Amino acid sequence: MDFRSSVSLLVVLFALLSSSPQYQILAEDVSSVVEASLKVSTPFSTALGTLQNQINYTFKSVGLLRRAMTHASFSEENNKALSILGASVIETSVSLQSLIKDVDISAKDLNVKIADVSNMERSCNADGTRLGLQKIVRVSRKTNVTSPAVVCGAFRAILGAIAVDAGSSDEAGWVFWKVHSGIGRAATM
Ligand SMILES: *[C@@H]1O[C@H](CO)[C@@H](O)[C@H](O)[C@H]1NC(C)=O
Ligand SMILES: *[C@@H]1O[C@H](CO)[C@@H](O)[C@H](O)[C@H]1NC(C)=O
Repeated sequence: MDFRSSVSLLVVLFALLSSSPQYQILAEDVSSVVEASLKVSTPFSTALGTLQNQINYTFKSVGLLRRAMTHASFSEENNKALSILGASVIETSVSLQSLIKDVDISAKDLNVKIADVSNMERSCNADGTRLGLQKIVRVSRKTNVTSPAVVCGAFRAILGAIAVDAGSSDEAGWVFWKVHSGIGRAATM
């Protein structure tokens, strides 16, 4: 089968699957294949490219970033587990930097710092909003995409996705600090 006919087959397959709700998740996957084989830029894939520039991290597996930018209300393949890893990347990173700066820091002060930086409404939501994630993350029509839970979950999931992509949490920790300290604003991109 030549390239043209395999692409047409994928398009037909995609059309068939999209019309049937129980195949929506599969259709999602097929849509990625069609996108990749046709090199189509959808607004979503363009946004993922811009996002990688903003955070200065290029994914080996961009599927991880797609997943990070997909809320549980949108599909079975979503960012819930990645965001758990991302939350612990933030905690590790804050603990490490605080102890490098001052090994005598009290447990109480360290816990306060961790709680500050992890706070969903104030800190985490602000970091995600700074990256413009509320304009990228895919949610169901009933879900409020600007709610702190969605934006913060997506931000944590990006960090989790970087850690999985890189096979270590170091790079994700640096991306966290860059975004948290205000580098990578959506507005300047
Ligand atoms: C982006 O990443 C590259 C490679 O890791 C590095 O050399 C460069 O300094 C980074 N740029 C910014 C703006 O952080
Ligand atoms: C969505 O969430 C934001 C932030 O919590 C809130 O300000 C806004 O009113 C909500 N929108 C709707 C339609 O509920």
